[in-house]
Amino acid sequence: MSAPGSAADEAIPAFWLFGYGSLIWKPPPHFDRRVPGWVTGYVRRFWQDHRGTPDAPGRVVTLIERSHWETLTDHHDTAPDKVWGVAYRIVPERVAEVKEYLDIREVNGYSIHYTPFHPADGSAPIKTLAYIGTPDNEKFIGPQDPQELAHHILESRGPSGLNKDYLYGLDTALNELSPESRDHHVSDLAERVRALEQMANGHVSS
Ligand code: BEZ
Repeated sequence: MSAPGSAADEAIPAFWLFGYGSLIWKPPPHFDRRVPGWVTGYVRRFWQDHRGTPDAPGRVVTLIERSHWETLTDHHDTAPDKVWGVAYRIVPERVAEVKEYLDIREVNGYSIHYTPFHPADGSAPIKTLAYIGTPDNEKFIGPQDPQELAHHILESRGPSGLNKDYLYGLDTALNELSPESRDHHVSDLAERVRALEQMANGHVSS
């Protein structure tokens, strides 16, 4: 098998998709490669509201351009240089179908960005497409107090499930990608929501 993005692939018009949210653990249809790795120049934040969108449970992650994020006051005031996620190669004959699926699934407020993706195995960067909720879309929320956000996530649900399960799923998927792929913004929110759940269930945290 050739390395992702290698010369052997060049005869085939490759379509690679970067997943940084639920796509990490809920793959798109018709992919033939799944490659863990990262992009740079962005910050992952739970700043996109997607209540009422068929495939999203409520508050979900988007990517903020790092240069823009640096101008903001964020309670989580650090962010890793690398945004870890997964690149999926879609089989050439199904690209049109998958783009249509993704547009239905993701397009609500998202715009399309192309960004170089760096495979964790050190192989050559791959041009990937990412769906990003930019600050000018009406569902973009912006910086929030983490504890208020944790409450919101605990209380939200959508057609695709509970918002807390999206958060826990993302935290677990990120922790499993690589020893360095943990994202403090996500894991801190997951800890806060777990603590709130325990309090609601009558457990006192030590
Ligand atoms: C993702 O999982 O990467 C993703 C999901 C919805 C919209 C944009 C990205």
